[in-house]
Amino acid sequence: MRHFISLDQLTVEDMYGILESAEDFRLGHTPIQQQIFAGNLFFEPSTRTKMSFVVAQKKLGMETLDFHSNSSSVLKGESLYDTARTFEAIGANLLVVRHESDTWYEEINANINIPIINGGAGKAEHPTQCMLDLLTIYQEFGKIEGLNVAIAGDILHSRVAKSNAHALKRLGANVFFCAAPDFQDHTLEFPYITIDEATEMCDVVMLLRIQHERHDGVKVMNHYLEEYGLTKEREANMKPNAIIMHPAPINRGVEIDTDLVECERSRIFKQMENGVYVRMAIMTKLLHDWGIIHEDAVKKRDTISFKRISG
Ligand code: CP
Repeated sequence: MRHFISLDQLTVEDMYGILESAEDFRLGHTPIQQQIFAGNLFFEPSTRTKMSFVVAQKKLGMETLDFHSNSSSVLKGESLYDTARTFEAIGANLLVVRHESDTWYEEINANINIPIINGGAGKAEHPTQCMLDLLTIYQEFGKIEGLNVAIAGDILHSRVAKSNAHALKRLGANVFFCAAPDFQDHTLEFPYITIDEATEMCDVVMLLRIQHERHDGVKVMNHYLEEYGLTKEREANMKPNAIIMHPAPINRGVEIDTDLVECERSRIFKQMENGVYVRMAIMTKLLHDWGIIHEDAVKKRDTISFKRISG
């Protein structure tokens, strides 16, 4: 793989390979015995994605090149391409990019000769979030095929919804959307159900934040939690082993009752923990694929084997 921009680039086998590698990293590893510089180019705010990439890089023994767009030459008009090209010129071996544009990678994809990882592209894709969500679901159920998964909330403005819906479907899950009319995206071919139906029938209820920063005149209604969110009453109707997920940050009391954020069913902080291991797996895969590090550069256990979908 040249860059990791979209889940569409991965075969089902690739996805399971990354999940197995991430699980392997969770159980132990040794750092890369080679100097590797990683540049984290975040042009949009981030806490989890950026800091879990930093932790993943440090666990792998990499040198992290920090970057703050609001104190960089971006303020003098430097483009994303010239910023990325500069990082390559000064010795970065790998870049992580988050940008508000849905298609930022088209500007740099072909001409940057180090691996690039998508840390979030506008409303389009968030592939590393998707991989950590898949790992969290797999850890819980030991499979993904056949699970009922509801993605509930601001589907229209969510990059997480798009990455996850398509990947979960490819891995054999039954994916449903729940959303208020203004937050539905009918370009995506997934059935809409109510939040009450979702909480009664689904194994995973994946909530989404209302993404005010991407709204263009859409008003969030009063009583959103009662009409469309996860209330304590709805949580009480969930199946015994069903889990709650959310990519975070969370609007407590809006899409989810604040008491449910850390309830027994919640895997929200587990998702964040898994983000570190998934990002270690993705970075090492790309560095291997480019020949920047050798196959045995990171010592792992390599004993994990996930059950693939049948057929
Ligand atoms: N889930 C997620 O992408 O969080 P951040 O915006 O904090 O990175």
